[in-house]
Amino acid sequence: MIFTGVMVLANITFAATPQELLTGYEAKSGKALASRGEQFFNAKHGKEWSCASCHESPPNHDTKHIVTGKLIKPLSPFHNAARFSDLAKAEKWFKRNCNDVLGRECSTQEKADVLSWLITIQ
Ligand code: HEC
Repeated sequence: MIFTGVMVLANITFAATPQELLTGYEAKSGKALASRGEQFFNAKHGKEWSCASCHESPPNHDTKHIVTGKLIKPLSPFHNAARFSDLAKAEKWFKRNCNDVLGRECSTQEKADVLSWLITIQ
């Protein structure tokens, strides 16, 4: 069992595809639910913005940052192959954006749900 845990961690650290990242999150959180991820992404959580405020919904096209107006490329990995190919990058932005939208970090379950939905967008 301990050995399996180490393997899972190694898998998260070196994940290179969105599916691998999702598998890594799910190993910690339990099964992801895309419909719950979609709802989470589109809802406000007690603050001014939702995830969709900057990424729009579905996030399958170029958008603009709601404050700076800077271009944001699509969040959906189908429309932007660079997405969720680097765990450290995904984690960095989850942390920053979740803080802006929720006033806290996202839970692993929330990240798993959002990612599982993003993977379905074509
Ligand atoms: C105020 C604008 C803004 C909001 C609101 C926002 N984001 Fe982002 N997001 C960005 C920017 C800017 C980037 C980094 C630039 C880029 O990668 O295009 C980014 C990147 C990301 C990434 C990096 C993905 C990768 O691997 O490249 C994830 C994950 C992400 N956002 C998820 C979310 C989630 C989930 C929410 C809602 C909780 C959210 N964002 C809300 C602006 C925002």
